[in-house]
Amino acid sequence: MNRYTVVTMPGDGVGKVVLPEALRVLDAVGFDAEYVHAEIGWDEWIQHGNPLPQRTIDLLAEHKLGLFGAITSKPKREADAELRPELRGKGLVYYSPIVTMRQRFDLDVCIRPCRSFPGNPLNFVRRDRNGGIDEPKVDTVIFRQNTEGLYAGVEWTDPPDQVVAALATHPRFKAFASTPKKDLAISTRIFTRRACRRIVEAAFAYAEQHGYRSVTVCEKPNVLRETSGMMEQVAREVQKAHPTIQLWSTNIDAQMMWLTKNPEDYGVIVAGNMFGDIVSDAFAGLVGGLGFACSANIGDEVAVFEPTHGSAPKYETLQPSIVNPIAMILSAAMMLDHIGDSSRANRIRRAIAQVVAAGEVRTYDMMRIPGGPQSIAQGAASTSEMTDAILAALASGAVHA
Ligand code: IPM
Ligand code: MG
Repeated sequence: MNRYTVVTMPGDGVGKVVLPEALRVLDAVGFDAEYVHAEIGWDEWIQHGNPLPQRTIDLLAEHKLGLFGAITSKPKREADAELRPELRGKGLVYYSPIVTMRQRFDLDVCIRPCRSFPGNPLNFVRRDRNGGIDEPKVDTVIFRQNTEGLYAGVEWTDPPDQVVAALATHPRFKAFASTPKKDLAISTRIFTRRACRRIVEAAFAYAEQHGYRSVTVCEKPNVLRETSGMMEQVAREVQKAHPTIQLWSTNIDAQMMWLTKNPEDYGVIVAGNMFGDIVSDAFAGLVGGLGFACSANIGDEVAVFEPTHGSAPKYETLQPSIVNPIAMILSAAMMLDHIGDSSRANRIRRAIAQVVAAGEVRTYDMMRIPGGPQSIAQGAASTSEMTDAILAALASGAVHA
């Protein structure tokens, strides 16, 4: 096997806690890599006015593989107030470094698997026909377009005259024409056919490879005729090359309603950036939420793997740490999938499945108790105890392929 160099970007808060846990698991399965630490996040913003430093960009460009923990984002005013005094008032604008990274490297294919682990007390349950409890097996993989749409950052408050003039060429802008510019806020939703095609093709290829029977486009073409309409049209074209996979279409709002009705029906879901963000959190909530939500951001050159939870700063310094490392560890397993080492990735997932099913080691979220210094005394496993349990399952041999 080639020796890989992986750029590790723990970022802020609990990112610093969970990323090292994932490295322990990668070591345990014999993944032979070198790790280079790279800075990202709030400290970089405060110190240098740039949360995604050039060195981090250079390292990613060089090594192509990244593991990312989490970052803290704050609203504009707070972000400015926390800057080093010398940097304040210079017009520096905080922009989420993970969003910037996705765009900088065109990591346009975001994969977010939401699969329930049997025995997870956080799995979604519903009442069955006879009044009993029914726990559907959720196995849905969200493909989120990761660089365009409402995240493109093309937006204004008090837009320039040229923008207003251009918008005024659209008959429907009449409704806003008399609003003073300073009272106008505009965020654009830009889709390109190329990006629609890439995300839809990735979704169909995945469905075919992993035996899913359907790909669902989750958009809103009845209202967003141009952007959602383009995604749907592209999906219809791409489907022709995959005759064994059915193409379904849902509206994002209805999909949220069906979420708790029949989640087991959905295999692969493909969506634009914002709806993909929403629908991936929604499905993650059915399979354990933030502690289990893993993701991959994949481009032609570079790929970065991250749990989708935030940085939960209040838990960063809690000793021992109580956050659930599973989302980060599952993200590391996705990195192994990406480099073609699914055998090690599957061993990791089986070890996690075994620990979850055994039910002896559970982090506070899995116990449904509030997180805090008292959680351990209430029986919750610490972060490292959860990793230890996964390592023990790996060592037990039960999860060897
Ligand atoms: C995610 C997060 C990010 C996003 C935030 C932190 C900018 O919600 O990865 O889903 O909106 O993409
Ligand atoms: Mg999100």
